[in-house]
Amino acid sequence: MRIRSLANRLTLLFAAVWLGAIFFAWPNPAAAANSPADTGKYTGPGSCSSTSCHGSVKPRADNRIFQNEYSVWAVKDKHAKAYDALTGPIGERMGNILGLGKSERAAKCLACHALDVPDEARAKTFDLSEGVSCESCHGPASAWLGPHTTRNWTHEQSVAAGMVDTRNLARRTEKCLTCHLGTQEKFVDHEMIAAGHPDLYFELDSFSAVMPRHWKTPRETAPGVPAENDAWSGVREWGTGQAVQLRASMERIAWRAKGKNWPEYSELQCFACHHSLTAPEQSWRQERGYAGRRPGDPPWNASRYSVFRELARQVDNDAASRLDEQVSQLAKSLSQLNPDRDAVASASANAAALSNQLATRIETQPYDAAMTLRLLQRISDDADEISNEGERAAEQAAMALDSLFIAYARTEKVANAADIRVSINGLFQQLENPSNYNPADFSKQMRKVGSLLR
Ligand code: HEC
Ligand code: HEC
Ligand code: HEC
Ligand code: HEC
Repeated sequence: MRIRSLANRLTLLFAAVWLGAIFFAWPNPAAAANSPADTGKYTGPGSCSSTSCHGSVKPRADNRIFQNEYSVWAVKDKHAKAYDALTGPIGERMGNILGLGKSERAAKCLACHALDVPDEARAKTFDLSEGVSCESCHGPASAWLGPHTTRNWTHEQSVAAGMVDTRNLARRTEKCLTCHLGTQEKFVDHEMIAAGHPDLYFELDSFSAVMPRHWKTPRETAPGVPAENDAWSGVREWGTGQAVQLRASMERIAWRAKGKNWPEYSELQCFACHHSLTAPEQSWRQERGYAGRRPGDPPWNASRYSVFRELARQVDNDAASRLDEQVSQLAKSLSQLNPDRDAVASASANAAALSNQLATRIETQPYDAAMTLRLLQRISDDADEISNEGERAAEQAAMALDSLFIAYARTEKVANAADIRVSINGLFQQLENPSNYNPADFSKQMRKVGSLLR
């Protein structure tokens, strides 16, 4: 299932009011896993699950962290079920189609669906079937597990002992993207998609909310004291997520262009190939035309760029124009039947470097209501261009408007907030059946959002 409007998901979440009155008592308290022989190892989630650590059933009010992280993960977070996806009927069929045998034993699948670390890095308490667990994102715990519970121990000390610095938004996004975009070592390509794997997409703020978050936003420096620079964290997360994912996707194109299977169809617009045919009079594709490519050549999937472009322009117009040129170059080379590997690799490497520069600016610059509103307006003004870049670009636009509007309405009084919400939900409705996606209709709906924002 693709990501739906966040606001709707959040309502559901609160309605569920920690139904999880299930208490997970694990036999492995922190101390047991921290024997000297296990230093620098992965201990498994059981080590975090005691009620006085992260296994509280209800979120605690008297701390800057909730302490129910384990319960949230075990009950609500799909990462806890990631291993089970391999043993289900679709996962098993994929293993057969791809000639891997049992998916749950294939390194190719375990790389993202479990904490598949080498034997020598597994502590005694470790169990592969626990899926994507705490240490998949937070790093191997054995070196900080004991000490991080002591008074005055700092986050920096944990990071020095091997904890991933997920507070750093760029590092956090990179971590998510190792699985949600892939790397040269572990990836989802069209061969896997054709065998049944969902194609990968991402947006940091929406995906964090859907997970759902097991941490406080805005961050607190002490119980009840929000961190000063964190009021617009949703906008910063969306922006940093966009910039880092553009860079990572450019790097991915660069290595794929040098790889064995080329062209790699999953870099192209899925529904350019996968759509049903109509009478010429009814074809919006023929009506739209094939700007910048030979009619019938499948175009590059620009969804990780088409919305980001508006943010780049707000942050550094000069760099944004240069990026635009580089990406147009890439799009031109890649939207051909037989794309030239070298041209594609060099255009995407250039764009990766520039998006990396922009990412640093975007992560650290200040955000406020005016900037957020401007972004909302510019993105919805770009309705025609974004909509024509396909269903995946439209999906990024819907997630962006959703995230940004939630952040905006949190601090600003918006008289017609209910109408805006309905019109944003209308965007998600149009994406429910991607084969029926129609750019003219989507564009119209985006402009409706835009007009309500004035
Ligand atoms: C690069 C990381 C990566 C690799 C490698 C990978 N997956 Fe996945 N898989 C994901 C992600 C991320 C999702 C969730 C996608 C989403 O919903 O956006 C997923 C989802 C799935 C789903 C759908 C689960 C559901 O709840 O609907 C199945 C089934 C699946 N993967 C099976 C496999 C199998 C079998 C393999 C090996 C052939 C494999 N995966 C390899 C990252 C990966
Ligand atoms: C899919 C990735 C992921 C998984 C799995 C995960 N976390 Fe997290 N966790 C995060 C991110 C991202 C943050 C927010 C960044 C931050 O505040 O450091 C976070 C924040 C936290 C925090 C708050 C840290 C702080 O200083 O505010 C705690 C505590 C925590 N996680 C514990 C756990 C435990 C325990 C588990 C396993 C039961 C777990 N996490 C599983 C990604 C993950
Ligand atoms: C080690 C690999 C890995 C990492 C790291 C990871 N994920 Fe995932 N994620 C997965 C897999 C695999 C699934 C699919 C699980 C399933 O459906 O069974 C998934 C599913 C999800 C889903 C559910 C999607 C849906 O369609 O419902 C969300 C949301 C998500 N991840 C967010 C995040 C975020 C945010 C981060 C970073 C803080 C992150 N993930 C880091 C592997 C990972
Ligand atoms: C250049 C054309 C092209 C592009 C682009 C493309 N595919 Fe395919 N796809 C194919 C062909 C050809 C097949 C094999 C169809 C067959 O054997 O019947 C296929 C097979 C599939 C299948 C299995 C067949 C089915 O109907 O279940 C799925 C699912 C799929 N593709 C999804 C995607 C997704 C998702 C994307 C985008 C990330 C994508 N494809 C991009 C050409 C393409």
